[in-house]
Amino acid sequence: MKIYDGGKIFVGIIIFLAFVLFPFYSNTGKVMAKPDPKIDTPEIQKLAVKKCVEPKDFMRSEHMQMLNDWRDSVVRENIRTYKNSMGQSFNMSLQNTCMKCHSNKKEFCDQCHNYMAVKPYCWDCHIAPKENKT
Ligand code: HEC
Ligand code: HEC
Ligand code: HEC
Repeated sequence: MKIYDGGKIFVGIIIFLAFVLFPFYSNTGKVMAKPDPKIDTPEIQKLAVKKCVEPKDFMRSEHMQMLNDWRDSVVRENIRTYKNSMGQSFNMSLQNTCMKCHSNKKEFCDQCHNYMAVKPYCWDCHIAPKENKT
């Protein structure tokens, strides 16, 4: 068997694939964009060592639990000081501690939460940092 006009058929297949696959490659970098939390805030710039309350991996996976524990400890036991794994003390406060460093809620907390479609209801009561509207 002989393929007539193999060149044209080949070009036809490429054009066909380009159309069929368009929705996929035109979305790369949009829908698939990974969250990119920014830590560039005035308070964090002042730190000699750019560290969170606990190591980064721990914060990433445990911050929800940590906030729960902080709240319970403050509201139920009236204990307001947290000692971290390095022996440093922190005031257990969402607004005055977490959001003092992470004053860029939109660029930080919301980056991940929007991506994961979680919407913490904390800001119904707790005051979110003042930021420029973007
Ligand atoms: C003293 C300033 C400071 C305070 C207070 C602070 N953070 Fe952080 N946080 C940082 C810095 C700096 C990093 C980046 C750490 C690194 O890269 O090792 C970070 C990292 C994180 C991360 C991980 C981000 C990532 O990219 O994986 C989470 C989540 C986080 N913080 C949440 C919180 C929460 C919740 C609180 C309050 C319980 C809090 N932070 C309090 C400075 C702070
Ligand atoms: C590195 C990504 C990341 C960053 C940065 C981050 N979070 Fe989260 N957060 C998550 C994920 C993922 C969940 C959902 C966890 C789950 O459903 O088990 C979550 C859940 C939470 C919850 C529990 C919400 C609920 O309804 O269960 C709270 C509260 C919370 N985050 C507070 C914060 C605050 C405050 C900041 C900024 C200081 C922050 N997070 C920054 C990833 C992040
Ligand atoms: C219905 C209102 C309300 C909501 C919603 C709420 N809180 Fe609170 N929270 C309070 C009040 C009131 C206190 C007590 C303030 C005090 O004694 O300093 C408090 C205290 C806290 C404290 C310790 C004190 C401080 O200054 O932060 C933490 C941590 C905390 N809440 C975290 C959270 C988190 C995380 C969420 C969301 C998952 C949340 N709260 C949602 C009302 C609320």
